[in-house]
Amino acid sequence: MSKPHPRRDKRQPPSTPRKPGSRGSQPLLGRDLLSLSALDRTQVVKLFATTKAVKSDIAKERRTLDGKTVILLFEKPSLRTRITFEVGVNNLGGTAIYMDHSSSRLGERESVHDYGKNLERWVQCIVARVFSQGVLDELASAANIPVINALSDLFHPCQALADFFTLSEHMRGLKGVKLAYIGDGNNVCNSLMHGAGLLGVNMTVVTPAGFEPRKEIVAEARSLAKSSGATITLSNDPSAVARHHAVYTDVWVSMGQGAGQADEAAKRRKVFMPYQVNTNLMSIAGPDAKFMHCLPAHRGLEVTDAVLDSPQSLAYDQAENRMHAQNALLLHILTKRPS
Ligand code: CP
Ligand code: NVA
Repeated sequence: MSKPHPRRDKRQPPSTPRKPGSRGSQPLLGRDLLSLSALDRTQVVKLFATTKAVKSDIAKERRTLDGKTVILLFEKPSLRTRITFEVGVNNLGGTAIYMDHSSSRLGERESVHDYGKNLERWVQCIVARVFSQGVLDELASAANIPVINALSDLFHPCQALADFFTLSEHMRGLKGVKLAYIGDGNNVCNSLMHGAGLLGVNMTVVTPAGFEPRKEIVAEARSLAKSSGATITLSNDPSAVARHHAVYTDVWVSMGQGAGQADEAAKRRKVFMPYQVNTNLMSIAGPDAKFMHCLPAHRGLEVTDAVLDSPQSLAYDQAENRMHAQNALLLHILTKRPS
């Protein structure tokens, strides 16, 4: 008879202090990453140090994930997230298995709970891209192995880690940096707000009326910002991007948004056009402002070619850094790191 699978505590203890540089920050070993709000600043700073190290030289880590298998369980399409995790895991000596789950929703063939209870017997980590954060939470509470959010309806923490790392490379640090997000108050925006709050980045979120991020997520980001001193400001006025170091946008219609996506897209085009990132908007932001996009981009909609292809654009640096930031995350979650 096989031994009962030992239950591990994968969640961040609620009492973890969040003061900048505070002691008591927990190692990420064995933990889930379902939302960036579960991390503290010290953990992110440590992740960034590892990101920098693996980006400049991965040779030392070539066999670190030897014998470890990571499943990529995706309900939605992906270029960056899938490839960066696959290449990253391989480069660290592990095995990545991609499971295309786009033909049916998780939970349809068998319960989400049973997915977790099966997968924990075979693999060491689940990276999941799902339609609903609730499904991810259910999977994580069933599975006795770490679960990493590879994008849900609510959050995209791996994206935000790579984005703030990218911004820090170009700004030489993050404290006091001003980031404007313009567009839909969606999953990417939510994780950026969490990161801004943790890292002391002053963030202005500019959306059309009715497309603001959820109140409770704004409140969560502002609560994280208490210890960093960051401000999280909302506006419906595109000119609120003025005097920011970087302007970030994302698609106007996210995967899975709206039952009839074509109708929803047509409706949103009208509402969002004044929020397009074009050369005029970038000139309002400032002559040295950087442009950021998580990609995929819809050229001619949320961003013009002239901006995406300009020297100000960090979009492809962000895409590259997805891999380095996730490599760091996997190393911290799956292996014991020197403190
Ligand atoms: N930015 C991002 O997550 O891209 P994919 O959807 O291609 O993974
Ligand atoms: N907000 C977008 C991000 C894609 C990486 C979406 O959810 O489709």
